[in-house]
Amino acid sequence: MTIPTRTQVLIVGAGPAGLLLGALLHRYGVDTVLLEARSADYVLGRIRAGVLEQVAVDLLDEAGVGERMHAEGLPHDGFDLCFDGQRHRIDLHALTGKRVMVYGQTEVTRDLMDARRAAGLPSVYEADGVSVHGFDGARPSVRFHHQGATHEIKCDFIAGCDGFHGVCRASVPEAAIQRYEKVYPFGWMGLLADVPPVSHELIYANHERGFALCSMRSATRSRYYVQCALDEHAERWSDDAFWQELKRRLPPDTAAQVHTGASIEKSVAPLRSFVAEPMRFGRLMLAGDAAHIVPPTGAKGLNLAAGDVGLLSRALAEFSRGSAAGIDSYSQRCLQRVWKAERFSWWFTSLMHRFPDTGEFGQKMQHAELEYIVGSTAAQTAIAENYVGLPLG
Ligand code: APR
Ligand code: PHB
Repeated sequence: MTIPTRTQVLIVGAGPAGLLLGALLHRYGVDTVLLEARSADYVLGRIRAGVLEQVAVDLLDEAGVGERMHAEGLPHDGFDLCFDGQRHRIDLHALTGKRVMVYGQTEVTRDLMDARRAAGLPSVYEADGVSVHGFDGARPSVRFHHQGATHEIKCDFIAGCDGFHGVCRASVPEAAIQRYEKVYPFGWMGLLADVPPVSHELIYANHERGFALCSMRSATRSRYYVQCALDEHAERWSDDAFWQELKRRLPPDTAAQVHTGASIEKSVAPLRSFVAEPMRFGRLMLAGDAAHIVPPTGAKGLNLAAGDVGLLSRALAEFSRGSAAGIDSYSQRCLQRVWKAERFSWWFTSLMHRFPDTGEFGQKMQHAELEYIVGSTAAQTAIAENYVGLPLG
């Protein structure tokens, strides 16, 4: 492939945000070049959450990559909240008329990568030293090195889809950006294994030893998490130790049904809430983890990224037809939805985890809230409405 020297939208980052943006823009007749620092295999090796809201499902369909998701994904009508050794079902479908789709982010990424390759759209993996220029004017450009050569691509817009540690947000002048952040005093240790899931729906458990989550990727592949100390190392945990800890945090009858087996992956991730405002700087638009991070409780990360690029793709297509209205309102429209998802993810995290510093009073508050939820249809509706996803706006 010869690397183009000009495009309409230069997308930095081939995670789900960058790939989905590219796929939607292709549908709308807008040219893109995608630059990714890592290799395609590295990107596909990252294991992340796997619950898609209807808005994300609809966008993947619109992008023309929904076929395998509908064939292999698992529609879920509810999930369980577990505390005091009891499971309580939140009936998403009865409460909201909506459901969620369990389909791993790795699979979403693979489907988008395959579609981009099949359409012959330009992508540069292993692009080194990406730098972004001129986005405060009408002629931005991006420079990088690839296979020993230096390249420059001129564009109309740069889409910063390069994740939390990317170069795009970091290139914005300090005075132009405001950051809001909360780091939680614990992490999640996750284990992926080819064993059937313990239940056909997800279980979120509040336990005195810490939070646990039973999730899945398919009828034969399970994903489990346990809350752990921030400085915990997955290599120090045998698979057996993980399974034992998980089972201790579940009711005995549920624990007895857990199928254990060798892990395919085991890792520790920190939990963070983060928002950068605004999400637009002249001709540089941020989307996905580049602009905001949620803790994984509630699985909003990928859904927020999809919502951003849904709005951004329409705004950029409108711009190519002569209207800047969508670009001008992009940041404000995204942030309205982002802050609501930040609130829900923070609240659900606060409800379900053991906090080292809130003491017995904090635990009593959690317990009272959990009891209130299981006795109140109004409280369950509020959870369900947020879990299935708020409208794109
Ligand atoms: N140049 C090019 N690419 C870069 C650079 C850079 N300087 N820095 C980072 N990247 C790439 C990363 O290697 C990664 O593949 O940008 C991509 C960002 O992808 P994600 O981190 O997956 O972020 P995003 O696409 O916004 O995903 C949002 O998916 O990954 C999850 O936790 C995330 O759930 C959230 C959702
Ligand atoms: C996952 O399957 O990885 C997952 C599911 C739900 C969450 C977080 C992670 O809330």
